[in-house]
Amino acid sequence: MSAATPELKKVTTHSVQAMKDKGEKIAMLTAYDFSMAKILDAAGIDILLVGDSASNVMAGHETTLPITLDQMIYHAQSVVRAVKRAMVVVDLPFGSYQSNPELALSSAIRVMKESGAHAIKLEGGAEVEKSIKRILNAGIPVMGHLGLTPQSIYKFGTYSVRAKEDAEAQKLKDDSKLLDQLGCFAMVLEKIPAQLAREVSESIDIPTIGIGAGPHCDGQVLVTQDMLGITKDFKPRFLRRYLELYDAIGNATQQYVNEVKAKSFPTDAESY
Ligand code: KIV
Repeated sequence: MSAATPELKKVTTHSVQAMKDKGEKIAMLTAYDFSMAKILDAAGIDILLVGDSASNVMAGHETTLPITLDQMIYHAQSVVRAVKRAMVVVDLPFGSYQSNPELALSSAIRVMKESGAHAIKLEGGAEVEKSIKRILNAGIPVMGHLGLTPQSIYKFGTYSVRAKEDAEAQKLKDDSKLLDQLGCFAMVLEKIPAQLAREVSESIDIPTIGIGAGPHCDGQVLVTQDMLGITKDFKPRFLRRYLELYDAIGNATQQYVNEVKAKSFPTDAESY
């Protein structure tokens, strides 16, 4: 490799742990397709999450429940093909790990084998302990996910902040310790009070990655289409929009339509 193209150091479970240990925040975004993953990776994102939010964002479903393992693997393959540096983590979708540890392991193996991703993520604590152990025993890195776990939306009833009451906060603390002890390499904390996320982040060794969980997590994650302003009407308090792409894309499309109708596109210079 020439001096002009320095070798990219790939992000691994070890490097994300090292980031926590030296106080460097971890930046994670979702990705579901090749083109977007290529841009995010080249821009220096540490972790790309092939989230089951693809069910909402890419397929237009109301919840994350309908997306299938085959569909997750398709998205993951597209993302993996684009990435040079980032670590690629793939959500195990609803129904692919909850019922028994053997099913969980075979789902995780399919993701790793068929997509070439680097780790899987699944939702829950003590309820999925056996599945997590089984997957970890096969040498597959696991990212946990506590707090608002969207695959349980019909149990919660709403997408509001979780663990505001003592009992739920205590269970979350216990679950975070369990995930750490089991050997998960990181965990997402979604939509919980900032103070609770701080306590959890300070009391466990592995990194926490927050979404709507305040500034004290070891990293942050957002859904890319939300932070780029493509999902126009989704405006929770935790979301910072870095672009307003819904309007920008709409305006560009209107201009294209007008120019095609006006016969000003294409010109001779744009023709063969
Ligand atoms: O599926 C997803 O996008 C997620 C993030 C919100 C963490 O799980």
